[in-house]
Amino acid sequence: MRLLSATLAPLLALFLWRSKYTLYYNMLTKMDLPDGYYFKGDVSSHCRPVNSKPDSSFKYCEDASFWENYDAKGTLEERRLIISCDSGRREWNTVMGPLLNPTPRGSLWVHSPKLGDTTRLTLENFPPEHTFHPLGVEAYPSYSGNASYMYVVNHAANKTVIEQFLLSPSSSVAKHIRTLSHPLFLASNALALTSPTSFYVTNDHVFTKRLPYVGAVVPMVETVFGLPLSFTAHVTVDPDETASGNAVLSHKIVAPFVAYSNGIALSPSGDEVAIASTSIGTVYLYSRNTTTNALAFSASVQLPFPPDNVKYDHDGNLVAAGHPHFPTLLKLLARKVNVSPSWVASISPVKGGVSPESDSRATLSASKIVPPPKHHTVQTLFQSNGETFSTSSTGLLDTLTGNFYVTGLYAEEGAMVCH
Ligand SMILES: *[C@@H]1O[C@H](CO)[C@@H](O)[C@H](O)[C@H]1NC(C)=O
Ligand SMILES: *[C@@H]1O[C@H](CO)[C@@H](O)[C@H](O)[C@H]1NC(C)=O
Ligand SMILES: *[C@@H]1O[C@H](CO)[C@@H](O)[C@H](O)[C@H]1NC(C)=O
Repeated sequence: MRLLSATLAPLLALFLWRSKYTLYYNMLTKMDLPDGYYFKGDVSSHCRPVNSKPDSSFKYCEDASFWENYDAKGTLEERRLIISCDSGRREWNTVMGPLLNPTPRGSLWVHSPKLGDTTRLTLENFPPEHTFHPLGVEAYPSYSGNASYMYVVNHAANKTVIEQFLLSPSSSVAKHIRTLSHPLFLASNALALTSPTSFYVTNDHVFTKRLPYVGAVVPMVETVFGLPLSFTAHVTVDPDETASGNAVLSHKIVAPFVAYSNGIALSPSGDEVAIASTSIGTVYLYSRNTTTNALAFSASVQLPFPPDNVKYDHDGNLVAAGHPHFPTLLKLLARKVNVSPSWVASISPVKGGVSPESDSRATLSASKIVPPPKHHTVQTLFQSNGETFSTSSTGLLDTLTGNFYVTGLYAEEGAMVCH
């Protein structure tokens, strides 16, 4: 016992030290954020809900990703947005709780910036008895109108699985191909595709809310102490669509021992991967071996908030969105408050030794909270005390249209777009 505590105490102290900014600024104190700040101008004239016809299913949207549509000549025509929402999240959330009612299904949506509309995808061939609670979603680009695969993390009633669909740009139907299962899809959260039939997938916890008896406490300890237990894997699935039982051909852990691995993204060049470590407020960058999909750590960037999802823009800047005040998020879950703060920032490599900007335009600049990273700049794109937009979980920048999107884990309007 003495040996155990002699080993454990310094380890816990080390983990706490690594999460010191997050503990102090995002848990123990509450920062003073504006109602709404948008880096391109006034929020009220630039930003509006993504879905112009409000729909009671279009809310509580955890993830969104670009679905790139190329024409026959290989020119990028449009970056549509695929959005995963779950209006039943207050009754079923395997990451934060509660686990009350898994029956009402979540939904998937496609937003077209060209048409300006947001359409709900109809799930075709989806087994009627399956429950559906979508989190991470990503679809392979479509070329000259062909259908492409979409993968969706599903926090289903029994266990977490990954659903594979086929999606065509000319219809609003997602055809279910099969359900992918693996013993190590423990708490899968976000996906980044490396081919039509392979992807990286994060696991946010090793101890989950689903565990009998200890599920109420142990996952919270894993979160608050920033225990580096969770991991990212690279998964290959059988290109033969009819293979269902053993559709997962390989599952390789490529980034072990990261605290609360949450969002993940693959850079446009394909040679960098970003993983958000929520509980220590950090994004880890890795260089990727494009042949083997192995990852080698290259840099870490401390953020002024615990990042949720991360997405690259087309120029290779990373956009991270997150939750600047964890206790308010917990109060929102307990229905004690209606909104919780948002912060979205971009992380860009410093080119040619130019000295980093200090995010001086933001109402609350990142550099007031955390030391600036050595080889990157952090720029605030959006921040809010929750009044303008609540619980930001994903931010995306579309370099084609200039649109900036934010989705909200518990946002009543689901997602916002700023022009
Ligand atoms: C979930 O588990 C129950 C009980 O083990 C089983 O009857 C049911 O078929 C399972 N549902 C799915 C969708 O796998
Ligand atoms: C669509 O076309 C691209 C490019 O030819 C190809 O890589 C992809 O596998 C195709 N998708 C499907 C679902 O066949
Ligand atoms: C990728 O991994 C392979 C096999 O280990 C190795 O031969 C190759 O040099 C690696 N590529 C890079 C760019 O590191």
